[in-house]
Amino acid sequence: MRTKMVAGNWKMNKNLQEGVALATELKNNVHNPSCAVVIGTPFIHLASVAEILKGSPIALAAENCADKASGAFTGEVSAEMVASTGATYCILGHSERRQYYHETTEILKEKVELALANGLKPIFCVGEIKDEREANCQNEVVKSQLEGSLFHLSEDDFRKITLAYEPVWAIGTGLTATPDQAEQMHAYIRSLVAERYGKAVAEDTTILYGGSCNDKNAAELFAKPDVDGGLIGGAALVAEKFLAIIAAR
Ligand code: 13P
Repeated sequence: MRTKMVAGNWKMNKNLQEGVALATELKNNVHNPSCAVVIGTPFIHLASVAEILKGSPIALAAENCADKASGAFTGEVSAEMVASTGATYCILGHSERRQYYHETTEILKEKVELALANGLKPIFCVGEIKDEREANCQNEVVKSQLEGSLFHLSEDDFRKITLAYEPVWAIGTGLTATPDQAEQMHAYIRSLVAERYGKAVAEDTTILYGGSCNDKNAAELFAKPDVDGGLIGGAALVAEKFLAIIAAR
């Protein structure tokens, strides 16, 4: 049975004190979750939040890592540094990184490899923009994102990946993909994984939905057979809402 998961992506929100307060509230309220729970925080929060989460079932993710191992790359944070904080996951391929920081499938391939080499489990995001959905080429877009950054991995390494389908037109817009739209894409992604790695790997692959997923619509999305959980932005910043989404999974 594949892992069900609710993961939060705080993005560039919460200063350190606010982040520590939110992590503490989550730790105090998440005891025996029926799914894996992950919070993705800004780099500077990682070490403090890792301390807070000791003994908690909540795992910690970075929101990014460098595409180089170490050296003269001012301002970058390596996968090794992320791992040294106690974080165990790394969100990669988020559309905001692709769009605003020009991360290509090739750059993301490097990041995935460095994350894995340092023992981090990537939460790898794919998804089409609005124009691509309107032109009905979302499948091609997602396929090339997977092929370009992940499908070179060995089966062993691929099994460490959590996928997240995040249609870009649904992120932070309040426009959620309908449960049927999400299910269609998740089933398609699973079929691609099956073609590349076989049915058993595909059945074990966790595929999250992200994009205006909140405490009101999560249960309906999670009811779909290929939607294994959510990658939550805005609603992950409010403990009450994030806890309700965890309860819906
Ligand atoms: P929102 O939930 O705010 O739409 O963000 C989704 C997201 O981008 C998670 O990575």
